[in-house]
Amino acid sequence: MYVCVCKAVTDKQIKSAINNGYCSRKDLNECLGVGTVCGKCSPQVKQLLDEHRAQTPIMWATA
Ligand code: FES
Repeated sequence: MYVCVCKAVTDKQIKSAINNGYCSRKDLNECLGVGTVCGKCSPQVKQLLDEHRAQTPIMWATA
């Protein structure tokens, strides 16, 4: 499913980037361009980051 229509980026691409270490919205903005045009996808990008953080609490507790 497309999350960022402006840059044609899917949720799978965002999850893959997060799993490869792009762990902030700024990182995702830079690597995929999400949120850099109209910004309407920013809440969904944040949600994907929050879901990832919730699944990996130990990593984020020490970050
Ligand atoms: Fe992502 Fe427009 S939908 S910047």
